[in-house]
Amino acid sequence: MTLRAVIAGCGSYLPKDVMTNHDLADLVETSDEWIRERTGIRERHIADDDERTSDLAVAAARAALDDAGRTSADIDLIIVATTTPDLTFPATAAIVQAKLGAPAGTAFDIQAVCTGFIYALATAEKFLRSGQHRCALVIGAETFSRILDWKDRSTCVLFGDGAGAFVVEAVDERDAGGRGLMGSFLRCDGRLVDLLYVDGGVSATQTTGHVRMQGNKVFREAVERISAAMLAVSEEAGVDPRTIDWFVPHQANERIIQGVVKKLHLRPDQVISTIARHGNTSAASIPLAYCEGVRDGRIRRGDLVMLEGMGGGLTWGAALFRA
Ligand code: ACO
Repeated sequence: MTLRAVIAGCGSYLPKDVMTNHDLADLVETSDEWIRERTGIRERHIADDDERTSDLAVAAARAALDDAGRTSADIDLIIVATTTPDLTFPATAAIVQAKLGAPAGTAFDIQAVCTGFIYALATAEKFLRSGQHRCALVIGAETFSRILDWKDRSTCVLFGDGAGAFVVEAVDERDAGGRGLMGSFLRCDGRLVDLLYVDGGVSATQTTGHVRMQGNKVFREAVERISAAMLAVSEEAGVDPRTIDWFVPHQANERIIQGVVKKLHLRPDQVISTIARHGNTSAASIPLAYCEGVRDGRIRRGDLVMLEGMGGGLTWGAALFRA
């Protein structure tokens, strides 16, 4: 029997506190106009002090389970993509598993920064297609505000907090009706670590550290690598990229998104963009945007959906599926 990994439902969660560009202009020397023109961001959500990454993840996971008509008892695999785990260990996925009351199977985290959700989805597919697991929660969750240097205007204006989740099920190909993951493409070039990293960590400094980024250099790498990943995954799946219905990119910068749209001859109305209201929520941004597209009725069952991401490492990748 050949199995496919089918997206059975999605959910998302955003903390209630909203920080606008004007609020940021009270903290650092910046302006609403600069942030909007350079990035497309108008506001972002910031977690409460007592809200942890696992809390955001659990809220998104519950919404995804409801959407899929499943309960936590159905879940035998939890993968959390995060750069901002609750604790150094155990994995945030283990904490999520306990909070959901889903004690079966396995749970682990994946760290690929803003590409984390693509890495997690591709990993889940391999577990599900092997037949060893049946039903996965794939979650991107971040409290990125905790690792920002709120005195560094070149980074603190870019990021926000949030979580998004997919329920992904192993389905016999004969019953899948063409739905499910059709291909994924993952890459990392560790020689580019210095472009985007956190200057702290358990082994290096015994501190948490803050995000450091050479933004313009990351920008220059982005459009080319992301487009190449999307072309590679299209080729693997035997799909002409112009036939995709929806492009759900990692929400890092509106100018990067539009650069990819132009390069691959996509239409602006095929893009699900949430960057204006969410900012860059790292591993959470793709499922947050996807869920918005599903909830407002744009993305429908059977549509062809392309996801892409790029983040620290540098890591980058793409995934293609039929919803
Ligand atoms: N407000 C006002 N001015 C600012 C701000 C700010 N918030 N931040 C920087 N500036 C200034 C700089 O100091 C610089 O001033 P100078 O010319 O006097 O030296 C000027 O603006 C231009 O700076 P650049 O960094 O060249 O600006 P750029 O047009 O490249 O935009 C940005 C910066 C928005 C960060 C852009 O480079 C970008 O989006 N890069 C990609 C980010 C990204 O995709 N990251 C990957 C994912 S994140 C992850 O993996 C965690």
